[in-house]
Amino acid sequence: MRISIDMKAFKKISVAGLLALAMLVAGCGKSDDDGPILIKFPHVTAPGTPKGQAAQRFKDLVDERLDGRVVVEVYPSGQLMSDDDSLDALAFGEVQMIAISLSKLDRLTHKFQVFDLPFLFPDLSTVERFQASQEGMSLLDSMSDKGLRGLTFWHNGMKQFGGPIPMRSPDAAVGLKFRVMESDVLQAQVLQIGGNPQKIAFGEVYQALQTGAVDAQENTWSNIYSSKFFEVQDYLMETNHGYIGYLVAVNPEFWDGLPEEIRAELDTIVNEVGVWANEQASVINEDGKQKIIASGQSEVLALSAEELAVWQDAMTPVWDQFEGNIGAEFIEAALAARQ
Ligand code: SIN
Repeated sequence: MRISIDMKAFKKISVAGLLALAMLVAGCGKSDDDGPILIKFPHVTAPGTPKGQAAQRFKDLVDERLDGRVVVEVYPSGQLMSDDDSLDALAFGEVQMIAISLSKLDRLTHKFQVFDLPFLFPDLSTVERFQASQEGMSLLDSMSDKGLRGLTFWHNGMKQFGGPIPMRSPDAAVGLKFRVMESDVLQAQVLQIGGNPQKIAFGEVYQALQTGAVDAQENTWSNIYSSKFFEVQDYLMETNHGYIGYLVAVNPEFWDGLPEEIRAELDTIVNEVGVWANEQASVINEDGKQKIIASGQSEVLALSAEELAVWQDAMTPVWDQFEGNIGAEFIEAALAARQ
């Protein structure tokens, strides 16, 4: 059974009605006697990014190992829907798999805000140790009652700031309009340095920078390169002040309804791709950085340890602001993952 939903229309229906609808359509990707199981997998970044490559590898391995019993359709670059819409679409069975930036789960649970705390994770290895901890693993299944189950995490990389002026110190950020993802922590982080945060969907960032709707942004090298933000940002500051990673998630009813041997094979592939994706992520980000430098269109500034310490002091007060929301045990587990 396939049901198509007008995303704008169904946001207006009552919550009770939507939940009933969810029960009905959650199994839509399941196989029936007529054909293969369909997994629609939309995401917002370009095919060459860490997420784009991982999604494609997932599809390739499914093609290779499941012999046509499962068909994966990957829709990159936001061509099917925005991240925000994909959360609804997953809950209602319109798509079967997503890999959404952890920051954008703020809408469903505050626990994921831990990933947005500035300067909490010094590098990807620390993030990985935290994700593998008891607290990190508990996050995967923390939203099943909201129509979403995490299978694993994939990295993108560390975030850098970009803007119209050199920003060696947070003083330079005062009064600038910053694009941030849909996260209250990221909003607070910009307020903390005297900037004006604007939550804007990924697909609208280039235009917002180009038209001056925002002056500045934060993202990974691979996203800044593949989405061409460097063409509309005169300076990029290598701050590594935060993390972008993804939750690979499915609709619990769809997943649990799959034939057991197929689900087991898909689980194996998801985990295998996770290991592969995390190895590729740093290489892809470094490649993006070098291509930006080579383009000469944006000046990349390396910051000294002293300059970074000033940024850190300016931004870390948001930890206290969000500790109650997140739960102190998650921040402690992240700190314990540092070496
Ligand atoms: C992504 O990497 O999926 C998008 C991140 C963003 O919205 O900046």
